[in-house]
This record gives sequence, C-alpha cells and structure tokens, in this order.
Amino acid sequence: MVNFENSETKKNLARAFAGECQDGARYQFLAKQAEAVGENYMKNLLKILAKNEMSHAKIFYDFILKYSGGEKNIDIQAGYPVSPYDLDPGLKLAADAEFSQFDNIYPAFARIARDEGYNDVADQFLRIATVEDCHNKQLTELSEKFIKNNLHKEKKPIKWKCSKCGYEETAKQPNKNCPLCGYSVGYYMIKLADN
Ligand SMILES: [Fe+2]
Ligand SMILES: [Fe+2]
Repeated sequence: MVNFENSETKKNLARAFAGECQDGARYQFLAKQAEAVGENYMKNLLKILAKNEMSHAKIFYDFILKYSGGEKNIDIQAGYPVSPYDLDPGLKLAADAEFSQFDNIYPAFARIARDEGYNDVADQFLRIATVEDCHNKQLTELSEKFIKNNLHKEKKPIKWKCSKCGYEETAKQPNKNCPLCGYSVGYYMIKLADN
C-alpha cells in the first residue's frame, strides 16, 4: 500500500470531497431558481440531488479521516466549475459535470486507488459513479423538458399526480391548477425515465 501522505489517492479524495460539496451547493442554487419559477416539484428533486452529493462528500471525507494521520490541511489543485444560477443552462451544465464524473473522473480515481492499494476507496468511487450516471440522466431530461417548456406536457395522455394532495388526472397536459387542492401545476410530479 502506498503511504497515504504521499499517495495520489489522498489528493483525489480531497478533490472529490471539494467537488461533491460544490455540486451540493450548486443544486441548492438551482433548487432556489426552480422555486422562483414555480416549479416546486423540480425544486424538491434538485434538493434530493443536493443531499445525495453531500452524502458522497461525507464518504470521501471519512476516508481522508480514516487514512490521514491527523493531517490538518491538504493542498490540492483542481478545476472548480462556475455556472450561472439560471436553470437554462444551469441544468445542462450540471448534467455535463455529472457525465464526466461517472464516465471519466471517478473510474480514473478508482484505478489509481486500486493501484495504490486502497481497494475500499476504489470500490466506493465506482459505486458513487453509478449514482452520478443516474444524476446525469435525470438532469439531462429535466434540462430538455425545461428548455422545450415540456415539464408538464406529454405527447400521449398519461397519469399526472399532484405532489401536494395526491390527486391524479389522465391527460396530455394537466390543469394549470390542481382541481382538488388548487396548487399550481408546478406541484405535479414530473415523469422522468430514470427516477
Ligand atoms: Fe456525487
Ligand atoms: Fe451527482
């Protein structure tokens, strides 16, 4: 096993921790924007993604605590993406970042961790990559629907459910306001393939 202090895995864990914290923050910002445009259900989806990222951050942080011998500070160099608050292009940029995490960054970090003898770290990088794959699919679909103004519109009639009161209706497009509770269409659940 490569000594943790001199390992690339230490730096990668710190980079991943920083990246996950930032993803979590950016999803909170996007959730605020979704709320501002009345998309309450999307706001909640984004808050779930933010929580997922914070739990990934903790997994990486716990590894740093487990292996580092009381080191007080870790210096890392990494890219820190900056994207606007707006849902367009914020959702798409977030989807792209998730794609590179699962497609490239975390598998590479996992290979390095395994080479350096940290199999437990490698396994978790690969598991977290599968979540980022799912996040990528959800964010891509949300972004496409949002840009096309199709969040509450389908080609064929489907069952729509109000997340506030549970009322269901079958239509291509649900009512602007739920007939039961009166809350806006933004409370209706958004159908995503990967949800
Ligand atoms: Fe994550
Ligand atoms: Fe993610």
